[in-house]
Amino acid sequence: MASYDVIIIGSGPGGYVSAIRCAQLGLKTACVEGRDTLGGTCLNVGCIPSKALLHATHMLHEAEHNFADMGLKGKTPSVDWDAMLAYKDKTVGQNTGGIEFLFKKNKVDWLKGWGSIPEAGKVKVGDEVHEAKHIIIATGSEPAPLKGVDVDEETVVTSTGALKLKKIPKSLVVIGGGVIGLELGSVYARLGSEVTVVEYLDAITPGQDAEVARQFQKLLTKQGIKFVLGAAVQGVSVKNKKATVSYKMRKDDAEAEITADTVLLATGRRPFTDGLGLSDLGVALSDRGQIEVDGSYKTNVDGIYAIGDAIKGPMLAHKAEDEGMAVAEMLAGQKPHVNYSVIPGVIYTHPEVGSVGETEETLKKAGRAYKVGKFPFLGNARAKANHAGDGFVKILADKETDRILGAHIIGPMAGDLIHEICVAMEFGAAAEDLARTCHAHPTYSEAVREAALACGDGAIHA
Ligand code: NAI
Repeated sequence: MASYDVIIIGSGPGGYVSAIRCAQLGLKTACVEGRDTLGGTCLNVGCIPSKALLHATHMLHEAEHNFADMGLKGKTPSVDWDAMLAYKDKTVGQNTGGIEFLFKKNKVDWLKGWGSIPEAGKVKVGDEVHEAKHIIIATGSEPAPLKGVDVDEETVVTSTGALKLKKIPKSLVVIGGGVIGLELGSVYARLGSEVTVVEYLDAITPGQDAEVARQFQKLLTKQGIKFVLGAAVQGVSVKNKKATVSYKMRKDDAEAEITADTVLLATGRRPFTDGLGLSDLGVALSDRGQIEVDGSYKTNVDGIYAIGDAIKGPMLAHKAEDEGMAVAEMLAGQKPHVNYSVIPGVIYTHPEVGSVGETEETLKKAGRAYKVGKFPFLGNARAKANHAGDGFVKILADKETDRILGAHIIGPMAGDLIHEICVAMEFGAAAEDLARTCHAHPTYSEAVREAALACGDGAIHA
């Protein structure tokens, strides 16, 4: 039996970041992980492998659609699917191996196996029970099931199965027009699959600024993805390795079916806390299965904390990381703070979508007077040179004070560009502060400045 200041259960972005921070702050730290590799869902079967496939297939798209126009003539590359999957796996290996290296460097012990909490102050891994002054639960989430849909991870898959299909499907139906469905739908559409997204609501990407969501759907449609909106999926049946999705249109209850080689279920995720022993411990959960915590990430049981997808809030790796650092700093006696109003969201399709803060819809609902500064990438020199003129930057600022309240970018590198605005928001900046900051020419970031200018006397290139 070993004794620690902190034991963290789960090594995803919440858990491993927290472990490293705890160790950096002088706490004797261990992290429990039952997978063969560190990094949790994000590194093993989520963010990282999907980004590798998105990158590879984007290169293919560029070769097919834009190379000839730039004078790059010749045969378009053919797809060796197994080699592409091997590239994805290599990328995952480099990243999970990197966390193992960081654990060694920071003297974090990896307790291999699935952990449970027999009582506060103790963590059981395999047959061993370890002592810990503080226990942090960072066990993440798992795909939420949908009634009538049996996942076999071959014909009917979640994101996990979609990252290792045996072959590229001729047709793919995606249930759910959220982040997972659109990222992985994009991958397969670029590989030649006929992709149809069936979405319950009347718009894709719920919660997104509505104007961005509409533009996003238009651009994805141009890339060949089909959408059936306002359709509630009732079930999926599999026969001879083909899957039939049945759905009901919400407006008139009309029933319809669509058959495909593969179905991807992407209707959300739910907290994963199985096997921890939480009910015996009396740890309070919400009716959605989230561990209840206070502002210091404390559960109702002394010495037990929780962060990331297992608690409330957006299920995003970087939100979990911030909470992981914050809880470590609290345990070390510091007074950290996570600013939940400045957590960016990014969809890594092409173009990318990056957003932060309020949308026009949330501002209208709150009755807040705001102004909109918008700039299209078509007016940006760099974007024009790079076949990347689709999309726009939109900044929402307070009508009176000019303070930036939110921003929404659809366009090239939106996921990186959004952070300039996040930093500005953290400093309580006005749109004018961004507008008066010199931006290098020619860069995509000039489009951000132009949108800020458009909140005032007007953009130059629009
Ligand atoms: P999501 O919540 O983003 O989207 C699920 C979609 O499914 C919604 O649009 C919902 O209306 C729809 N839906 C629900 N029931 C339905 C039904 N019966 N028929 C048709 N449509 C239905 O969930 P998603 O895409 O599964 O992602 C899960 C979590 O993972 C999210 O919290 C997401 O933020 C996170 N994630 C984030 C990524 C990123 O930041 N780039 C990448 C992948 C996942």
